[in-house]
Amino acid sequence: MSRYSTLLGTGGYLPETILTNDQIAQTVETSDAWIVERTGIRQRRIAAPHETASSMAEIAARQALDAAGLEPGDLDLIIVATGTPDRIFPSTACLLQQRLGVRECASFDVQAACSGFIFALSVADQFIRAGSARRALVVGSEVYSRIVDWSDRATCVLFGDGAGAAVIGVSDQPGLLSTHIHSDGQYQNLLYAPNPANNNGLRDEGRFLKMEGNEVFKIAVNTLGRIVDETLEANGLDKSDIDWLVPHQANIRIITATAKKLRMPMARVVVTIENQGNTSAASIPLALNEAIRDGRIRRGQTVLMEAFGAGFAWGSALLRY
Ligand code: COA
Repeated sequence: MSRYSTLLGTGGYLPETILTNDQIAQTVETSDAWIVERTGIRQRRIAAPHETASSMAEIAARQALDAAGLEPGDLDLIIVATGTPDRIFPSTACLLQQRLGVRECASFDVQAACSGFIFALSVADQFIRAGSARRALVVGSEVYSRIVDWSDRATCVLFGDGAGAAVIGVSDQPGLLSTHIHSDGQYQNLLYAPNPANNNGLRDEGRFLKMEGNEVFKIAVNTLGRIVDETLEANGLDKSDIDWLVPHQANIRIITATAKKLRMPMARVVVTIENQGNTSAASIPLALNEAIRDGRIRRGQTVLMEAFGAGFAWGSALLRY
């Protein structure tokens, strides 16, 4: 029998507190008009002090398990994608495993910044197709509000907190058609978050995220165009075969550029950035969950997910839902 991964259920969680552009404009020199025009973001969610990547992951994961009709004990693999783990170690996946009351199934984190969910999904897919796992939980969970410098207007306006989850299982019918992941470490200094516990042996890099936004923007647009071509080509598909684009939500201008490349009307693109900002590894599963739950994405449709982020690390996943 051929073995494929199939999407069984999704879940999502956004913290209660909303931070609007106008509120940020009270503390740094910016405006709602500038942020909306340059990024498409109007507001973002901020985690409460007691919330962490693992606590938000648990809520999203339980929702995804419910949607899949499964119990935590049915899982044999847990992968969490996060750049803002509760602790450096153990992995956030181990903390999530404890929260779910599961024991012994392999649980580990994947670190690929904003592309983390695509990387984690790709890894889970390999496990399932190889016969090493039957049911995997893949989560993206982030608390970027704790690593952005709230006095830096060029970065603090961009990010938000949240978690999204997907449960995938084995099937003899193609669900996840292909995943494609790439990295290029030569760009590591254009976007990074230092490790405050390690001054790099050379200099203290502080504790906040740093980004050359303009450079990242240009390379992101080009690279995402290439990954779209690579994905279509690998599957022998045409642009018109894609029903939905579920992109990583970094900037509305990056999203529209990719949609244009696919000749896709924006009505076929799932956009959450307006109300969520960039939730890094959580943005794709959050968007996927929203569009499945509100009935936009229907069984049998073809969904292209793509992401680009620090590393640089980028990738795509093509799903027949
Ligand atoms: N409010 C007002 N002005 C701001 C601002 C803000 N929040 N942030 C930056 N500016 C200013 C800059 O200081 C600069 O001023 P100057 O010309 O006087 O020096 C000017 O706006 C233009 O800055 P620039 O960085 O060139 O703007 P931009 O059009 O590239 O937009 C980003 C900035 C960050 C929105 C954009 O570069 C971007 O989205 N980059 C990609 C980010 C990304 O995708 N990151 C994550 C990857 S997953």
